[in-house]
Amino acid sequence: MPDTLTIIDNRTGKQYEVPILYGTYPLYGAAIRTTDLRQIGVSGEDFGLLGYDPAFTNTASCKSRITFIDGERGILRYCGYPIEELAEKSSFLEVAYLVLHGELPTQKELDGWSWNVIHHSFVHENIKKFMDGFRYDAHPMGILISTVAALSTFYPESKDIRNQQGRREQIYRLIAKMPTIAALAFRHTMGYPYTYPDNDLSYCGNFLNMMFKMTELRYTPDPVLEKALDILFILHADHEQNCSTSAMRGVGSSLPDPYVSVAAATAGLYGPLHGGANEQVLRMLQEIGSVDRIPGYIRQVKEGVFRLMGFGHRLYKNYDPRARILREMTHKVLERTGSSPLLDIAMELERIALEDEYFITRLLYPNVDFYSGIIYQAMGFPVDMFPVLFAIPRTAGWLAQWSEMLDDTEQKIARPRQVYIGPDTRPYLPIDRR
Ligand code: CMC
Repeated sequence: MPDTLTIIDNRTGKQYEVPILYGTYPLYGAAIRTTDLRQIGVSGEDFGLLGYDPAFTNTASCKSRITFIDGERGILRYCGYPIEELAEKSSFLEVAYLVLHGELPTQKELDGWSWNVIHHSFVHENIKKFMDGFRYDAHPMGILISTVAALSTFYPESKDIRNQQGRREQIYRLIAKMPTIAALAFRHTMGYPYTYPDNDLSYCGNFLNMMFKMTELRYTPDPVLEKALDILFILHADHEQNCSTSAMRGVGSSLPDPYVSVAAATAGLYGPLHGGANEQVLRMLQEIGSVDRIPGYIRQVKEGVFRLMGFGHRLYKNYDPRARILREMTHKVLERTGSSPLLDIAMELERIALEDEYFITRLLYPNVDFYSGIIYQAMGFPVDMFPVLFAIPRTAGWLAQWSEMLDDTEQKIARPRQVYIGPDTRPYLPIDRR
């Protein structure tokens, strides 16, 4: 069987043969190069055929070794390792190493990597002054996006993105400083004094310290919550070519330093259809308020008044495997922190939605954001911080994808085409004749 596609252009009767290329899984990774369509035209002056794909629902923008998703079967793997196994056996820093290096580290490699990340957690004191410029009610995602972009000005050498040693340094810094900036943003909006990192704690333990330390001399994180946060971070580390990652690759393709690219990716994450959804889920559960109001709410969703937040996914047409892990974890965390009336509402909402024809026919299942908000709230994070909690671990994935793009000789500056549908050429009309 030849690995080619034969195309007949019925406008001209001409026949074209274009090669098919495959990924690791031919069923999910077979593609043609859309540039091969450019030879197809009606005349010599014809520009040739483009692939038209609004929102890139069927366009592969890159080849990648990092994340594999089979949305039909509810499968997610990082570098071949199933997400369920990583959530059970690994740690966030190990997973961050995995997505960035393609392999799990040895003990020595993990120790070195963890030491480097943990020892880059401080930010320049001027960042605190910069932070003071924000209003008391500034959304922490707005603060995070601006402050990460501002880091670009502190590390001008980071523009040398082809320098592998320098690139490693910026990767340590970004993974290390995102939790610090996130915690500073939270404390700024609360009016609390800023807390310095404690490098003797784990990555997640230190983040909890920077968030919640008050008068105690030394903050000791609750081990159950520290572990839960670590698992949440593993689940959010990467998710292939979504909106924010495409922003990271797209902006990164013009070769700026990684701080501004991460700021762009964080902005992509902010919206309610992406990383902002966990915030909206909690607001939705609060608005529903009680189990008896769910049927009325579902009715409005079906009438198209609003969407059921935390439901549906561009790729998963099955239960999101991350949501399955989090559903389980919600119970464990709430056992520790005390029950939440929102969990009862969420579980009943899920039960009713999964039995409803509207959701069944559209293959709408809970996604990662459906349960994460309940867990974050039980841990004491305010709702505004939820998308920030998504951005911290996703930074590892963004950087892995960015680095992969820079080393991919086929990649160039991202520059999609368009199908022009505006007016044909016409003369300029003076204003008194319009
Ligand atoms: N509630 C109600 N209806 C929905 C929902 C929803 N959450 N999601 C999709 N639909 C309907 C939609 O109205 C459409 O129906 P119809 O065919 O009658 O017009 C159909 O399902 C297909 O929707 P779509 O908008 O074409 O699907 P998409 O693949 O473009 O959208 C999505 C994916 C995630 C943006 C969407 O499902 C959604 O808006 N979900 C709610 C927001 C959310 O939870 N986002 C977090 C995504 S997971 C975290 C992440 O990776 O960022």
